[in-house]
Amino acid sequence: MKLAIGNDHTAVDLKQAIVEHLSTRDIELIDVGTNSTESFDYPISGYRVGKLVASGEVDGGILICGTGVGISLAANKVPGVRACVCSEPYSAALSKRHNDANIIAFGARVVGDEMAKLIVDSWLDATYEGGRHERRVNLLREIEETGSLAAAE
Ligand code: RB5
Repeated sequence: MKLAIGNDHTAVDLKQAIVEHLSTRDIELIDVGTNSTESFDYPISGYRVGKLVASGEVDGGILICGTGVGISLAANKVPGVRACVCSEPYSAALSKRHNDANIIAFGARVVGDEMAKLIVDSWLDATYEGGRHERRVNLLREIEETGSLAAAE
Protein backbone atom coordinates (compact mmCIF):
# COMPACT_ATOMS: atom_id res chain seq x y z
CA MET A 1 0.00 0.00 0.00
CA LYS A 2 1.15 3.52 -0.85
CA LEU A 3 0.14 6.51 1.27
CA ALA A 4 0.92 10.23 1.27
CA ILE A 5 1.41 12.22 4.45
CA GLY A 6 1.39 15.98 4.91
CA ASN A 7 1.51 18.44 7.78
CA ASP A 8 2.16 22.02 8.81
CA HIS A 9 4.62 23.47 11.30
CA THR A 10 2.53 22.44 14.33
CA ALA A 11 2.79 18.76 13.49
CA VAL A 12 6.42 18.01 12.62
CA ASP A 13 7.03 15.82 15.68
CA LEU A 14 3.70 14.01 15.45
CA LYS A 15 4.22 13.36 11.75
CA GLN A 16 7.61 11.82 12.55
CA ALA A 17 6.00 9.60 15.19
CA ILE A 18 3.44 8.44 12.61
CA VAL A 19 6.12 7.87 9.96
CA GLU A 20 8.06 5.69 12.42
CA HIS A 21 4.89 3.87 13.46
CA LEU A 22 4.00 3.07 9.85
CA SER A 23 7.50 1.79 9.14
CA THR A 24 6.44 -1.36 10.99
CA ARG A 25 3.79 -1.98 8.34
CA ASP A 26 4.10 -2.81 4.65
CA ILE A 27 3.47 0.77 3.57
CA GLU A 28 5.31 3.04 1.16
CA LEU A 29 4.96 6.59 2.45
CA ILE A 30 5.38 9.78 0.43
CA ASP A 31 6.03 12.74 2.74
CA VAL A 32 4.96 16.04 1.16
CA GLY A 33 4.78 18.05 4.37
CA THR A 34 7.22 20.35 6.10
CA ASN A 35 10.00 19.23 8.42
CA SER A 36 10.55 22.71 9.78
CA THR A 37 8.84 24.42 12.70
CA GLU A 38 8.89 27.66 10.71
CA SER A 39 5.34 28.79 9.93
CA PHE A 40 4.01 26.73 7.00
CA ASP A 41 0.61 27.24 5.38
CA TYR A 42 -1.47 24.07 5.85
CA PRO A 43 -3.37 24.39 2.51
CA ILE A 44 -0.13 23.54 0.69
CA SER A 45 0.19 20.12 2.33
CA GLY A 46 -3.56 19.52 2.19
CA TYR A 47 -3.60 20.23 -1.53
CA ARG A 48 -0.51 18.10 -2.24
CA VAL A 49 -1.88 15.06 -0.44
CA GLY A 50 -5.34 15.63 -1.94
CA LYS A 51 -3.94 15.65 -5.48
CA LEU A 52 -1.92 12.47 -4.91
CA VAL A 53 -4.98 10.69 -3.53
CA ALA A 54 -7.44 11.95 -6.16
CA SER A 55 -5.08 11.06 -9.01
CA GLY A 56 -4.72 7.51 -7.70
CA GLU A 57 -0.95 7.86 -7.29
CA VAL A 58 -1.43 6.77 -3.69
CA ASP A 59 -4.08 4.67 -1.98
CA GLY A 60 -4.80 7.17 0.79
CA GLY A 61 -3.51 10.09 2.78
CA ILE A 62 -2.76 11.29 6.29
CA LEU A 63 -2.96 14.98 7.18
CA ILE A 64 -1.94 16.70 10.40
CA CYS A 65 -2.13 20.37 11.37
CA GLY A 66 -2.94 21.97 14.72
CA THR A 67 -6.54 20.78 14.72
CA GLY A 68 -6.75 18.75 11.50
CA VAL A 69 -9.47 21.14 10.38
CA GLY A 70 -7.71 23.55 8.04
CA ILE A 71 -5.62 20.91 6.32
CA SER A 72 -8.65 18.66 5.72
CA LEU A 73 -10.63 21.62 4.37
CA ALA A 74 -7.85 22.20 1.84
CA ALA A 75 -7.75 18.54 0.79
CA ASN A 76 -11.54 18.41 0.47
CA LYS A 77 -11.37 21.16 -2.17
CA VAL A 78 -9.73 18.61 -4.49
CA PRO A 79 -12.46 16.69 -6.36
CA GLY A 80 -12.54 13.05 -5.36
CA VAL A 81 -11.17 13.62 -1.88
CA ARG A 82 -13.07 12.58 1.23
CA ALA A 83 -10.92 13.78 4.11
CA CYS A 84 -12.28 13.28 7.63
CA VAL A 85 -10.98 14.85 10.84
CA CYS A 86 -11.06 12.30 13.66
CA SER A 87 -9.88 12.64 17.25
CA GLU A 88 -10.53 9.06 18.30
CA PRO A 89 -10.38 5.61 16.67
CA TYR A 90 -14.11 4.85 16.50
CA SER A 91 -14.82 7.75 14.16
CA ALA A 92 -11.66 6.95 12.22
CA ALA A 93 -12.85 3.39 11.55
CA LEU A 94 -16.37 4.54 10.66
CA SER A 95 -15.00 7.22 8.33
CA LYS A 96 -13.63 4.39 6.20
CA ARG A 97 -16.41 1.81 6.74
CA HIS A 98 -19.30 4.20 6.02
CA ASN A 99 -17.88 7.31 4.33
CA ASP A 100 -15.09 5.70 2.30
CA ALA A 101 -12.69 8.33 3.66
CA ASN A 102 -9.58 8.35 1.51
CA ILE A 103 -7.76 10.76 3.83
CA ILE A 104 -7.62 10.74 7.61
CA ALA A 105 -6.81 14.00 9.39
CA PHE A 106 -6.18 14.90 13.01
CA GLY A 107 -4.73 17.66 15.13
CA ALA A 108 -1.32 17.75 16.74
CA ARG A 109 -2.75 20.18 19.30
CA VAL A 110 -5.68 17.85 19.94
CA VAL A 111 -4.39 14.28 20.17
CA GLY A 112 -1.21 12.78 21.60
CA ASP A 113 1.13 10.44 19.75
CA GLU A 114 -0.45 7.21 21.01
CA MET A 115 -4.01 8.32 20.21
CA ALA A 116 -2.84 9.42 16.77
CA LYS A 117 -1.35 5.97 16.10
CA LEU A 118 -4.64 4.33 17.13
CA ILE A 119 -6.55 6.69 14.84
CA VAL A 120 -4.30 5.88 11.88
CA ASP A 121 -4.41 2.12 12.53
CA SER A 122 -8.20 2.11 12.92
CA TRP A 123 -8.64 3.93 9.61
CA LEU A 124 -6.10 1.75 7.80
CA ASP A 125 -7.51 -1.53 9.13
CA ALA A 126 -11.13 -0.68 8.34
CA THR A 127 -12.79 -1.61 5.04
CA TYR A 128 -15.41 0.38 3.16
CA GLU A 129 -18.71 -1.49 3.47
CA GLY A 130 -20.48 -0.19 0.35
CA GLY A 131 -24.14 -1.27 0.24
CA ARG A 132 -26.42 1.44 1.65
CA HIS A 133 -23.38 3.62 2.19
CA GLU A 134 -22.61 3.65 -1.51
CA ARG A 135 -25.86 5.52 -2.22
CA ARG A 136 -24.84 8.20 0.28
CA VAL A 137 -21.28 8.48 -0.94
CA ASN A 138 -22.72 8.82 -4.46
CA LEU A 139 -24.86 11.71 -3.19
CA LEU A 140 -21.67 13.37 -1.98
CA ARG A 141 -20.18 12.83 -5.44
CA GLU A 142 -23.26 14.38 -7.06
CA ILE A 143 -22.86 17.56 -4.99
CA GLU A 144 -19.18 17.68 -5.88
CA GLU A 145 -19.65 17.04 -9.60
CA THR A 146 -22.77 19.08 -10.30
CA GLY A 147 -22.91 21.65 -7.49
CA SER A 148 -26.44 20.49 -6.71
CA LEU A 149 -28.34 17.53 -5.30
CA ALA A 150 -31.48 16.34 -7.05
CA ALA A 151 -32.73 14.44 -3.98
CA ALA A 152 -32.73 17.65 -1.96
CA GLU A 153 -34.75 19.75 -4.42
C1 RB5 B 1 -1.71 27.04 12.78
O1 RB5 B 1 -1.60 28.00 13.78
C2 RB5 B 1 -3.11 26.42 12.84
O2 RB5 B 1 -4.05 27.38 12.48
C3 RB5 B 1 -3.18 25.23 11.93
O3 RB5 B 1 -2.24 24.29 12.32
C4 RB5 B 1 -4.51 24.48 11.92
O4 RB5 B 1 -4.91 24.15 13.21
C5 RB5 B 1 -5.58 25.07 11.13
O5 RB5 B 1 -6.67 24.52 10.99
